[in-house]
Amino acid sequence: MSVDTPAWKALVNHAAEQRVQHLRQLFARDAQRFERFSLQCENLLLDYSKQRISEQTMRLLRELAIECDINGWRQRMLDGELVNQTEGRAVLHMALRAAPAEILPRRGTNQVPAVQAVLAQMQRLCESVHGGSWRGFSGERITDVVNLGIGGSDLGPRMATRALAAWQQPDIRVHFVANVDGADLATTLADLNPRSTLFIVSSKTFTTSETLTNANSARQWLMAAAGESEQVSRHFIAVTANPEAAAFFGIAPENIFEFWDWVGGRFSLWSAIGLPLALAIGFHHFEALLAGARQMDTHFCSAPTEKNLPLTLALLSLWNNSFLQAGSHAVLPYSQSLELFPAYLQQLEMESLGKQVDRAGQSVGVDTAPILWGMPGTNGQHSFYQLLHQGGRLVPCDFIALKQADYPLPGHHPLLLANCLAQSAALAFGQTVEEARALGTPEELIAHKVFPGNQPSNTLVLSQLDPHTLGQLIALYEHKVFCLGVLWKLNPFDQWGVELGKQLATTLLPLVKGEGDASGFDASTRGLLATLHE
Ligand code: F6P
Repeated sequence: MSVDTPAWKALVNHAAEQRVQHLRQLFARDAQRFERFSLQCENLLLDYSKQRISEQTMRLLRELAIECDINGWRQRMLDGELVNQTEGRAVLHMALRAAPAEILPRRGTNQVPAVQAVLAQMQRLCESVHGGSWRGFSGERITDVVNLGIGGSDLGPRMATRALAAWQQPDIRVHFVANVDGADLATTLADLNPRSTLFIVSSKTFTTSETLTNANSARQWLMAAAGESEQVSRHFIAVTANPEAAAFFGIAPENIFEFWDWVGGRFSLWSAIGLPLALAIGFHHFEALLAGARQMDTHFCSAPTEKNLPLTLALLSLWNNSFLQAGSHAVLPYSQSLELFPAYLQQLEMESLGKQVDRAGQSVGVDTAPILWGMPGTNGQHSFYQLLHQGGRLVPCDFIALKQADYPLPGHHPLLLANCLAQSAALAFGQTVEEARALGTPEELIAHKVFPGNQPSNTLVLSQLDPHTLGQLIALYEHKVFCLGVLWKLNPFDQWGVELGKQLATTLLPLVKGEGDASGFDASTRGLLATLHE
């Protein structure tokens, strides 16, 4: 358990003192606070001066990281040890974006050549689709690509394709269908022509029922137009770590893009799971995304503890959640293009860290992953920010801002940035009774115009949003998750918690269809089944 260690206990004592400090006092006392608590990594800046921390806090947190053997665990991951021990797997997503000459893992079989071979296969596919040589059953070129996948086989490429819409290739549209609700597939297909549509069945396991159900319906839709033509195979690609199952489904061997069990689903954007993204933005830009992530990997593996961006983000998250008892975390990108980033991070952080037992199966002893949520500014300001300002809950926020706009319409970007800075300042410093009075507020409204402030936040500033900086940003959060796993001593790479619901759904399926006996189920489930059958 982390919570029994000397460094953890020192932090508990320190938190009792630090909790009563207000960000107003902390800033008033130290004119150098921004310089002291900000980090730069290439074209990405992290300002964490608005966190409820002191130098002592950061020192104690770093001591905890050392005590948890952060450097040893990172080395074990690089060496290819089975750090995902509950599934008996290595964790090598860094190999997916390694330079061709790099060796990863550092011990054992180098996986980089296999990665490069799949990247070359992806490049060939992108070129043939963009160049128009990939033709459908009737000889038409591909105009639409539909990714059929869910969770890690959907959220990453979907988010990045949305984020990089400014890099969208002409003459190709990429769609994402995840939900087994027929509304998702049916509404997507309604506007598409089977003659010019290419499906990517994305599933690491190739057993996920939502994806396979959607893939079967997509095949029927296609065959309704193409008949039994052998050329139907020109419309289906599989991306999977289970090529046998994809072949059994009927995908032609040359259309199967492989990845490996050492890639976790939520860390798989960089593998062939990124194929829809590469098709959307072009392979060259996909390579720039990989290079951005690689730059963050190099930083993570070489920067000292006090300058290490992912580790710092993790330590601040740990501080807010385990020592200040925040329980919630808002991600607020001031970029419409990053609108899906909070949804992507929900899987990355909550599926990785939402656990109560450590690597040894013992209680972690504290709550782990905060509930992560958010939406882009300024929209959120007119929705839930009221609660952040005056709701009385501690909700640490990550603001994300772009120095340059990706869609530079006159007058828009300065207004967007002014709002971003205004919100983090208002949340941090609030408004006192005296300040409200000085503004001429009528006495009966004073209580309503007081803002307690002291709401902690990070602000991440990217020079611009492009494939390279997006790669850096995503890898930053990936490594943050790894660090939090080390700090809470848990395995962030398994997800046993999602299994029970899957098993129950399998058992309930015949009952929902009106077959079988529901008497073994609880009263609520029986009542709901009866209602559905009325
Ligand atoms: O939701 C559980 C999960 O296993 C995720 O971890 C994964 O990303 C998703 O399902 C999809 O899995 P697959 O890629 O195997 O279809």
